[in-house]
Amino acid sequence: MDDARAAELDRDDPLPSLRDEFAVPPWPGGHAPEWAYLAGNSLGLMPLAARAAVEAELAEWERLGVEAWFESREPWLEYAGSLRGSVARLVGADASEIAVMNSLTVNLHLLLTSFYRPTRERFRIVIEDSAFPSDSYAVRSQAAWHGFDPAEAVVRLRPRDGETTLLTEEVVEALERESGSLALVLLPGVSYLTGQVLEVVPITEAAHAAGAVAGWDLAHSIGNVPVALHDSGADFAVWCHYKYVNAGPGAPGGAFVHERHARSFELPRLAGWWGNDPAVRFRMEPEFVPREGAEGWAVSTPPVVAFAPLAASLEQFDRVGLPALRARSMRLTGYLEELLDEVARSRRLAVITPRDPDRRGCQLSVSVEHASALARRLRDEHGVVCDFREPDVLRFAPTPLYTTFRDCARAAHALLEVL
Ligand SMILES: Cc1ncc(COP(=O)(O)O)c(C=O)c1O
Repeated sequence: MDDARAAELDRDDPLPSLRDEFAVPPWPGGHAPEWAYLAGNSLGLMPLAARAAVEAELAEWERLGVEAWFESREPWLEYAGSLRGSVARLVGADASEIAVMNSLTVNLHLLLTSFYRPTRERFRIVIEDSAFPSDSYAVRSQAAWHGFDPAEAVVRLRPRDGETTLLTEEVVEALERESGSLALVLLPGVSYLTGQVLEVVPITEAAHAAGAVAGWDLAHSIGNVPVALHDSGADFAVWCHYKYVNAGPGAPGGAFVHERHARSFELPRLAGWWGNDPAVRFRMEPEFVPREGAEGWAVSTPPVVAFAPLAASLEQFDRVGLPALRARSMRLTGYLEELLDEVARSRRLAVITPRDPDRRGCQLSVSVEHASALARRLRDEHGVVCDFREPDVLRFAPTPLYTTFRDCARAAHALLEVL
């Protein structure tokens, strides 16, 4: 926990942090001016440009009223569409496969309505046992909606005894085992709890080989690790933009629908006028004519002012590029891992995130007793913000855009003290 080494790493890193472009919360009365913020896996910090971006849309509203839908600098009618290219780059998709809309769980329900088509023989949904609760609620409620018993329809994958993460082979074997009754697989690109990366390509292939649809929750992947959604052949994916993409609390989310479903108009959908073909939308006719591509699943008028911080954030990702960010992320996380291992030599804790940098994103999860009390003490006594998941996991996410090596050193040092 050598502060000089952290300072040197900050100075010499090939990709300097963009910290100056972010609002890093101050720590009034603390022994450092700012928090060491390692909670970007929960809510990313505010890009300073977000304020101007929001104000610009407010100014257009002020100047043009309803005419801003058509005549604004960035006509509001096209605003959601204009973000798709940048979002598509982050998830390895074509812009036409992306819709920026709603929030994650809402998008999940919209897409499950189309892609979960259970029959009496084929009705099971595979998720991981430690799936984010909202995903679990969504698939259980969908199974019940179709008249199935969620306890029977939803299969939860658990790591082998004594292990904390799932191996790809285990997932593939489980999908083969369930193949007679499997309708859909919904897994996270990165586990929210352990930070583990799940392999999208082989798991999607195994889902398809088992006759099932492959859906992905990329909440902890987007802006964190590279994903190749299109090439993987995944059927659909959903995510939020308020974690690593820094678009603000409850920011509009994203959805991917693979190109091969772009014109699958026979699929049932919960329709709304924003998914209608723009060529006929304003004819106000009673029949729904879905537009092609992912935006055919849109339902309602887009929240333009809420899009503005996302636009500001995407500009940063476009400027820096995900490959450079991922390389910096690996350096930061590797450094934090070293320091946490040092803490583990004299204190009772264990890093439960995979050790292989390719099998994790930036987050390191630590299993430790009294996690919630520790998180509070880390913040109040040391100005180190991480988060906890009951009962015994602390999560530290050195996000590469604004976290520094010094933040990592502060976090490890603080953990040593509070333990
Ligand atoms: C992995 C994962 N899935 C789903 C959600 C729920 O997202 P939302 O509240 O935007 O629906 C979250 C939220 O943190 C999450 O981390």
